[in-house]
Amino acid sequence: MLTIDKSLQFEGLDNFFYVANEAMTSTILLVDDEINNLQLIKRTLRGKYNILTASQGEEGLQVLKENLDKICLIISDHKMPVMEGTEFLRRANEIAPDIIKILLTGFTDIEILTDAVNKCNLFQYITKPFDPNELLSIVESGVEKFNLSSSRSLMMRDLQELFYKTIKSISATLDAKDAYTHGHSLRVTLYSLILASTISNDTKFLENIEVAGLLHDIGKISIPQKVLCKPGKLDDEEREIMKTHSLCSERLVENIKQLGDMGLWVKAHHEKWDGTGYPDGLKGDEIPLCSRIVAIADTYDAMTSTRSYRLALSHEVAIEEIKKCAGTQFDPNLAQKFIEIQDKIKEAKDNPEQYYEEYSMLKKKFESKTNP
Ligand SMILES: [Fe+2]
Repeated sequence: MLTIDKSLQFEGLDNFFYVANEAMTSTILLVDDEINNLQLIKRTLRGKYNILTASQGEEGLQVLKENLDKICLIISDHKMPVMEGTEFLRRANEIAPDIIKILLTGFTDIEILTDAVNKCNLFQYITKPFDPNELLSIVESGVEKFNLSSSRSLMMRDLQELFYKTIKSISATLDAKDAYTHGHSLRVTLYSLILASTISNDTKFLENIEVAGLLHDIGKISIPQKVLCKPGKLDDEEREIMKTHSLCSERLVENIKQLGDMGLWVKAHHEKWDGTGYPDGLKGDEIPLCSRIVAIADTYDAMTSTRSYRLALSHEVAIEEIKKCAGTQFDPNLAQKFIEIQDKIKEAKDNPEQYYEEYSMLKKKFESKTNP
Protein backbone atom coordinates (compact mmCIF):
# COMPACT_ATOMS: atom_id res chain seq x y z
CA MET A 1 0.00 0.00 0.00
CA LEU A 2 1.33 3.43 -0.93
CA THR A 3 1.63 5.70 2.07
CA ILE A 4 2.97 9.22 1.95
CA ASP A 5 3.99 11.32 4.92
CA LYS A 6 2.08 14.61 4.64
CA SER A 7 5.15 16.43 5.96
CA LEU A 8 6.94 15.53 2.71
CA GLN A 9 4.54 17.61 0.64
CA PHE A 10 5.90 20.55 -1.27
CA GLU A 11 4.37 23.04 -3.59
CA GLY A 12 3.70 21.83 -7.13
CA LEU A 13 3.02 18.19 -6.32
CA ASP A 14 0.07 18.71 -4.00
CA ASN A 15 -2.24 16.84 -6.35
CA PHE A 16 0.02 13.82 -6.40
CA PHE A 17 0.15 13.59 -2.64
CA TYR A 18 -3.55 14.24 -2.36
CA VAL A 19 -4.29 11.28 -4.60
CA ALA A 20 -1.75 9.04 -2.90
CA ASN A 21 -3.33 9.67 0.49
CA GLU A 22 -6.76 9.05 -0.93
CA ALA A 23 -5.68 5.42 -1.43
CA MET A 24 -6.32 4.93 2.29
CA THR A 25 -10.01 5.68 1.82
CA SER A 26 -10.60 4.34 -1.69
CA THR A 27 -14.11 3.18 -2.48
CA ILE A 28 -14.83 -0.17 -4.08
CA LEU A 29 -18.10 -1.36 -5.61
CA LEU A 30 -18.97 -5.05 -5.18
CA VAL A 31 -21.67 -6.55 -7.37
CA ASP A 32 -22.75 -10.11 -6.61
CA ASP A 33 -26.12 -11.80 -6.23
CA GLU A 34 -24.72 -14.39 -3.77
CA ILE A 35 -24.86 -12.95 -0.28
CA ASN A 36 -22.18 -15.33 1.06
CA ASN A 37 -19.74 -14.23 -1.60
CA LEU A 38 -20.45 -10.57 -0.88
CA GLN A 39 -19.84 -11.12 2.83
CA LEU A 40 -16.55 -12.94 2.21
CA ILE A 41 -15.22 -10.17 -0.04
CA LYS A 42 -16.38 -7.49 2.37
CA ARG A 43 -14.59 -9.25 5.24
CA THR A 44 -11.42 -9.48 3.14
CA LEU A 45 -11.39 -5.77 2.29
CA ARG A 46 -12.92 -4.36 5.48
CA GLY A 47 -10.91 -1.66 7.24
CA LYS A 48 -8.83 -0.93 4.16
CA TYR A 49 -11.47 0.33 1.76
CA ASN A 50 -14.93 1.85 1.74
CA ILE A 51 -17.29 -0.75 0.30
CA LEU A 52 -20.50 -0.18 -1.68
CA THR A 53 -22.57 -3.19 -2.73
CA ALA A 54 -25.22 -4.12 -5.28
CA SER A 55 -26.94 -7.47 -5.82
CA GLN A 56 -27.38 -7.24 -9.59
CA GLY A 57 -26.20 -5.35 -12.69
CA GLU A 58 -28.83 -2.59 -13.01
CA GLU A 59 -28.49 -1.73 -9.33
CA GLY A 60 -24.68 -1.76 -9.73
CA LEU A 61 -24.88 0.73 -12.61
CA GLN A 62 -27.11 2.99 -10.53
CA VAL A 63 -24.70 2.92 -7.56
CA LEU A 64 -21.82 3.59 -9.96
CA LYS A 65 -23.53 6.65 -11.48
CA GLU A 66 -24.34 8.04 -8.04
CA ASN A 67 -20.75 7.58 -6.79
CA LEU A 68 -18.66 8.25 -9.89
CA ASP A 69 -16.36 10.65 -8.09
CA LYS A 70 -15.62 8.13 -5.31
CA ILE A 71 -15.37 4.65 -6.83
CA CYS A 72 -11.94 3.60 -8.01
CA LEU A 73 -12.48 -0.15 -8.49
CA ILE A 74 -15.36 -2.55 -9.26
CA ILE A 75 -15.47 -6.26 -8.47
CA SER A 76 -18.30 -8.10 -10.19
CA ASP A 77 -19.39 -11.70 -10.17
CA HIS A 78 -19.96 -13.17 -13.64
CA LYS A 79 -22.96 -15.45 -13.16
CA MET A 80 -25.82 -13.20 -12.12
CA PRO A 81 -29.51 -13.24 -13.07
CA VAL A 82 -30.85 -10.70 -15.63
CA MET A 83 -27.47 -9.12 -16.44
CA GLU A 84 -24.25 -11.16 -16.54
CA GLY A 85 -21.09 -9.73 -15.00
CA THR A 86 -19.39 -9.19 -18.37
CA GLU A 87 -22.37 -7.19 -19.64
CA PHE A 88 -22.49 -5.17 -16.42
CA LEU A 89 -18.75 -4.39 -16.61
CA ARG A 90 -19.02 -3.54 -20.33
CA ARG A 91 -21.72 -0.98 -19.52
CA ALA A 92 -19.79 0.23 -16.47
CA ASN A 93 -16.81 0.75 -18.77
CA GLU A 94 -18.88 3.02 -21.01
CA ILE A 95 -19.76 5.14 -17.96
CA ALA A 96 -16.34 5.08 -16.30
CA PRO A 97 -13.51 3.81 -18.51
CA ASP A 98 -10.82 4.76 -15.99
CA ILE A 99 -12.24 2.79 -13.07
CA ILE A 100 -10.44 -0.53 -12.49
CA LYS A 101 -12.60 -3.59 -13.19
CA ILE A 102 -12.20 -7.10 -11.80
CA LEU A 103 -14.37 -10.11 -12.78
CA LEU A 104 -15.04 -13.07 -10.49
CA THR A 105 -15.78 -16.11 -12.59
CA GLY A 106 -16.11 -19.87 -12.52
CA PHE A 107 -15.03 -19.93 -16.20
CA THR A 108 -11.68 -21.24 -17.23
CA ASP A 109 -12.40 -21.05 -20.98
CA ILE A 110 -9.57 -18.83 -22.17
CA GLU A 111 -11.47 -17.58 -25.23
CA ILE A 112 -14.43 -16.40 -23.17
CA LEU A 113 -12.11 -14.78 -20.67
CA THR A 114 -10.05 -13.03 -23.35
CA ASP A 115 -13.24 -11.72 -24.90
CA ALA A 116 -14.37 -10.44 -21.50
CA VAL A 117 -10.98 -8.77 -20.88
CA ASN A 118 -11.25 -6.87 -24.18
CA LYS A 119 -14.92 -5.91 -24.02
CA CYS A 120 -14.93 -4.78 -20.40
CA ASN A 121 -11.44 -3.29 -20.25
CA LEU A 122 -10.77 -5.77 -17.42
CA PHE A 123 -7.82 -5.23 -15.13
CA GLN A 124 -7.92 -8.82 -13.92
CA TYR A 125 -10.20 -11.84 -13.58
CA ILE A 126 -10.23 -14.09 -10.54
CA THR A 127 -11.45 -17.68 -10.79
CA LYS A 128 -13.66 -19.06 -8.05
CA PRO A 129 -13.21 -20.32 -5.44
CA PHE A 130 -10.72 -17.55 -4.72
CA ASP A 131 -8.01 -17.15 -2.13
CA PRO A 132 -8.81 -14.01 -0.02
CA ASN A 133 -5.13 -13.04 0.11
CA GLU A 134 -4.89 -13.25 -3.68
CA LEU A 135 -8.02 -11.10 -3.99
CA LEU A 136 -6.62 -8.52 -1.57
CA SER A 137 -3.32 -8.37 -3.43
CA ILE A 138 -5.06 -7.89 -6.82
CA VAL A 139 -7.32 -5.17 -5.36
CA GLU A 140 -4.29 -3.35 -3.89
CA SER A 141 -2.55 -3.42 -7.30
CA GLY A 142 -5.73 -2.17 -8.99
CA VAL A 143 -6.21 0.71 -6.55
CA GLU A 144 -2.55 1.67 -6.89
CA LYS A 145 -2.83 1.65 -10.69
CA PHE A 146 -5.96 3.84 -10.50
CA ASN A 147 -4.28 6.31 -8.14
CA LEU A 148 -1.10 6.56 -10.20
CA SER A 149 -3.07 7.15 -13.36
CA SER A 150 -5.25 9.78 -11.62
CA SER A 151 -2.24 11.60 -10.23
CA ARG A 152 -0.61 11.52 -13.67
CA SER A 153 -3.76 13.02 -15.21
CA LEU A 154 -3.86 15.74 -12.58
CA MET A 155 -0.21 16.59 -13.12
CA MET A 156 -0.71 16.62 -16.90
CA ARG A 157 -3.63 18.97 -16.41
CA ASP A 158 -1.54 21.24 -14.19
CA LEU A 159 1.20 21.32 -16.82
CA GLN A 160 -1.33 22.16 -19.54
CA GLU A 161 -2.79 24.92 -17.38
CA LEU A 162 0.69 26.29 -16.72
CA PHE A 163 1.38 26.19 -20.46
CA TYR A 164 -1.89 27.99 -21.31
CA LYS A 165 -1.30 30.71 -18.72
CA THR A 166 2.28 31.12 -19.93
CA ILE A 167 1.35 31.64 -23.58
CA LYS A 168 -1.45 33.98 -22.55
CA SER A 169 1.02 36.05 -20.50
CA ILE A 170 3.55 36.08 -23.35
CA SER A 171 0.92 37.24 -25.84
CA ALA A 172 -0.34 39.90 -23.39
CA THR A 173 3.25 41.08 -22.89
CA LEU A 174 3.68 41.33 -26.64
CA ASP A 175 0.44 43.29 -27.00
CA ALA A 176 1.57 45.66 -24.25
CA LYS A 177 4.83 46.49 -26.10
CA ASP A 178 2.95 48.81 -28.42
CA ALA A 179 0.07 51.00 -27.25
CA TYR A 180 -1.40 50.81 -30.76
CA THR A 181 -1.65 47.02 -30.79
CA HIS A 182 -2.87 46.70 -27.22
CA GLY A 183 -5.15 43.65 -26.93
CA HIS A 184 -4.47 42.64 -30.57
CA SER A 185 -3.59 38.97 -29.94
CA LEU A 186 -6.56 38.43 -27.66
CA ARG A 187 -9.00 39.97 -30.16
CA VAL A 188 -7.50 38.03 -33.09
CA THR A 189 -7.86 34.86 -31.02
CA LEU A 190 -11.46 35.74 -30.21
CA TYR A 191 -12.46 36.52 -33.83
CA SER A 192 -10.66 33.36 -34.98
CA LEU A 193 -12.58 31.26 -32.43
CA ILE A 194 -15.93 32.75 -33.46
CA LEU A 195 -15.18 32.10 -37.14
CA ALA A 196 -13.77 28.61 -36.48
CA SER A 197 -16.82 27.61 -34.44
CA THR A 198 -18.98 28.10 -37.55
CA ILE A 199 -16.96 25.30 -39.20
CA SER A 200 -16.62 22.80 -36.38
CA ASN A 201 -17.26 22.28 -32.69
CA ASP A 202 -14.36 19.87 -32.41
CA THR A 203 -12.61 20.69 -29.13
CA LYS A 204 -9.08 19.94 -30.34
CA PHE A 205 -9.58 22.05 -33.48
CA LEU A 206 -10.84 25.03 -31.46
CA GLU A 207 -8.07 24.66 -28.87
CA ASN A 208 -5.51 24.73 -31.70
CA ILE A 209 -7.14 27.84 -33.15
CA GLU A 210 -6.93 29.49 -29.73
CA VAL A 211 -3.24 28.71 -29.28
CA ALA A 212 -2.48 29.82 -32.86
CA GLY A 213 -4.35 33.08 -32.28
CA LEU A 214 -2.44 33.81 -29.10
CA LEU A 215 0.94 32.93 -30.63
CA HIS A 216 0.60 34.10 -34.25
CA ASP A 217 2.62 37.29 -33.73
CA ILE A 218 4.97 35.94 -31.05
CA GLY A 219 7.89 36.49 -33.48
CA LYS A 220 7.39 40.27 -33.11
CA ILE A 221 9.42 39.88 -29.92
CA SER A 222 12.46 39.81 -32.22
CA ILE A 223 11.52 43.03 -34.08
CA PRO A 224 13.43 46.13 -32.89
CA GLN A 225 11.26 48.45 -30.79
CA LYS A 226 11.96 51.40 -33.10
CA VAL A 227 10.41 49.48 -36.01
CA LEU A 228 7.62 47.81 -34.03
CA CYS A 229 6.47 51.04 -32.37
CA LYS A 230 7.39 53.54 -35.08
CA PRO A 231 4.99 56.49 -35.02
CA GLY A 232 4.06 56.63 -38.69
CA LYS A 233 4.25 54.36 -41.73
CA LEU A 234 7.16 51.96 -42.16
CA ASP A 235 9.59 52.51 -45.05
CA ASP A 236 10.48 49.62 -47.39
CA GLU A 237 13.42 48.42 -45.32
CA GLU A 238 11.45 48.53 -42.09
CA ARG A 239 8.55 46.71 -43.74
CA GLU A 240 10.96 43.90 -44.76
CA ILE A 241 12.20 43.69 -41.16
CA MET A 242 8.61 43.56 -39.90
CA LYS A 243 7.79 40.78 -42.37
CA THR A 244 10.36 38.51 -40.73
CA HIS A 245 8.12 38.16 -37.67
CA SER A 246 6.08 35.27 -39.07
CA LEU A 247 9.24 33.21 -39.62
CA CYS A 248 10.38 34.11 -36.11
CA SER A 249 6.98 33.01 -34.77
CA GLU A 250 7.54 29.66 -36.47
CA ARG A 251 11.04 29.29 -35.04
CA LEU A 252 9.89 30.01 -31.51
CA VAL A 253 6.86 27.73 -31.70
CA GLU A 254 8.48 24.78 -33.48
CA ASN A 255 10.86 24.36 -30.55
CA ILE A 256 7.90 23.18 -28.47
CA LYS A 257 7.37 19.69 -29.85
CA GLN A 258 4.00 19.25 -28.09
CA LEU A 259 2.61 21.98 -30.37
CA GLY A 260 2.95 19.77 -33.46
CA ASP A 261 2.27 21.71 -36.67
CA MET A 262 1.53 24.98 -34.86
CA GLY A 263 4.83 26.41 -36.15
CA LEU A 264 3.66 26.02 -39.77
CA TRP A 265 0.30 27.57 -38.92
CA VAL A 266 1.72 30.71 -37.30
CA LYS A 267 4.29 31.07 -40.07
CA ALA A 268 1.53 31.16 -42.70
CA HIS A 269 -0.77 33.81 -41.18
CA HIS A 270 0.33 36.44 -43.75
CA GLU A 271 -0.03 34.15 -46.76
CA LYS A 272 -2.71 35.21 -49.27
CA TRP A 273 -5.23 33.04 -51.11
CA ASP A 274 -3.88 34.19 -54.52
CA GLY A 275 -0.26 33.36 -53.62
CA THR A 276 0.99 36.95 -53.17
CA GLY A 277 1.51 36.70 -49.42
CA TYR A 278 4.63 35.88 -47.39
CA PRO A 279 6.93 34.21 -46.40
CA ASP A 280 6.41 31.27 -48.82
CA GLY A 281 3.87 32.58 -51.35
CA LEU A 282 1.53 29.67 -50.58
CA LYS A 283 -1.70 29.58 -52.58
CA GLY A 284 -5.30 28.47 -51.82
CA ASP A 285 -5.55 25.22 -49.89
CA GLU A 286 -1.76 25.08 -49.56
CA ILE A 287 -2.25 27.57 -46.75
CA PRO A 288 -3.22 25.70 -43.56
CA LEU A 289 -6.89 26.19 -42.58
CA CYS A 290 -5.90 27.56 -39.19
CA SER A 291 -3.70 30.24 -40.84
CA ARG A 292 -6.49 31.21 -43.26
CA ILE A 293 -8.83 31.74 -40.30
CA VAL A 294 -6.30 33.77 -38.30
CA ALA A 295 -5.49 35.84 -41.43
CA ILE A 296 -9.05 37.16 -41.68
CA ALA A 297 -9.29 37.84 -37.93
CA ASP A 298 -5.87 39.53 -37.97
CA THR A 299 -6.75 41.83 -40.88
CA TYR A 300 -10.16 42.73 -39.42
CA ASP A 301 -8.52 43.69 -36.11
CA ALA A 302 -5.75 45.66 -37.83
CA MET A 303 -8.36 47.66 -39.78
CA THR A 304 -10.65 48.32 -36.81
CA SER A 305 -7.81 49.40 -34.47
CA THR A 306 -6.22 52.84 -34.37
CA ARG A 307 -2.64 52.82 -35.61
CA SER A 308 0.08 55.44 -35.25
CA TYR A 309 -0.50 56.54 -38.85
CA ARG A 310 -4.33 56.37 -39.02
CA LEU A 311 -7.51 56.19 -36.98
CA ALA A 312 -9.48 52.96 -36.69
CA LEU A 313 -11.75 52.14 -39.62
CA SER A 314 -15.38 51.37 -38.82
CA HIS A 315 -16.67 47.80 -38.61
CA GLU A 316 -18.71 48.37 -41.79
CA VAL A 317 -15.70 49.59 -43.79
CA ALA A 318 -13.62 46.63 -42.57
CA ILE A 319 -16.36 44.17 -43.59
CA GLU A 320 -16.55 45.80 -47.05
CA GLU A 321 -12.77 45.37 -47.40
CA ILE A 322 -12.98 41.68 -46.44
CA LYS A 323 -15.77 41.23 -48.98
CA LYS A 324 -13.61 42.92 -51.63
CA CYS A 325 -10.58 40.76 -50.85
CA ALA A 326 -12.46 37.41 -50.75
CA GLY A 327 -10.76 35.14 -53.28
CA THR A 328 -7.63 37.30 -53.57
CA GLN A 329 -6.29 37.89 -50.06
CA PHE A 330 -8.70 35.60 -48.21
CA ASP A 331 -10.19 32.13 -48.59
CA PRO A 332 -13.54 33.07 -50.24
CA ASN A 333 -15.58 30.54 -48.23
CA LEU A 334 -14.15 31.70 -44.92
CA ALA A 335 -14.56 35.36 -45.88
CA GLN A 336 -18.22 34.63 -46.69
CA LYS A 337 -18.72 32.97 -43.30
CA PHE A 338 -17.03 35.92 -41.57
CA ILE A 339 -19.44 38.31 -43.32
CA GLU A 340 -22.41 36.13 -42.29
CA ILE A 341 -21.40 36.32 -38.61
CA GLN A 342 -20.41 39.98 -38.72
CA ASP A 343 -22.97 41.04 -36.08
CA LYS A 344 -21.43 38.65 -33.58
CA ILE A 345 -17.95 39.88 -34.55
CA LYS A 346 -19.00 43.50 -34.00
CA GLU A 347 -20.42 42.67 -30.55
CA ALA A 348 -17.20 40.83 -29.68
CA LYS A 349 -15.11 43.81 -30.88
CA ASP A 350 -17.01 46.09 -28.49
CA ASN A 351 -16.57 43.75 -25.54
CA PRO A 352 -13.64 41.41 -26.17
CA GLU A 353 -12.96 40.34 -22.57
CA GLN A 354 -16.54 39.17 -22.00
CA TYR A 355 -16.73 37.36 -25.36
CA TYR A 356 -13.35 35.73 -24.82
CA GLU A 357 -14.73 34.20 -21.61
CA GLU A 358 -17.54 32.71 -23.70
CA TYR A 359 -15.50 31.41 -26.63
CA SER A 360 -12.20 30.42 -25.02
CA MET A 361 -11.86 26.63 -24.96
CA LEU A 362 -8.78 26.66 -22.74
CA LYS A 363 -10.18 29.02 -20.15
CA LYS A 364 -13.27 26.80 -19.78
CA LYS A 365 -11.14 23.69 -19.61
CA PHE A 366 -9.02 24.94 -16.74
CA GLU A 367 -11.70 26.85 -14.89
CA SER A 368 -13.82 23.70 -14.62
CA LYS A 369 -10.96 22.08 -12.71
CA THR A 370 -11.84 21.36 -9.10
CA ASN A 371 -8.73 21.61 -7.05
CA PRO A 372 -8.61 19.40 -3.98
FE1 LIG B 1 1.39 39.12 -38.00
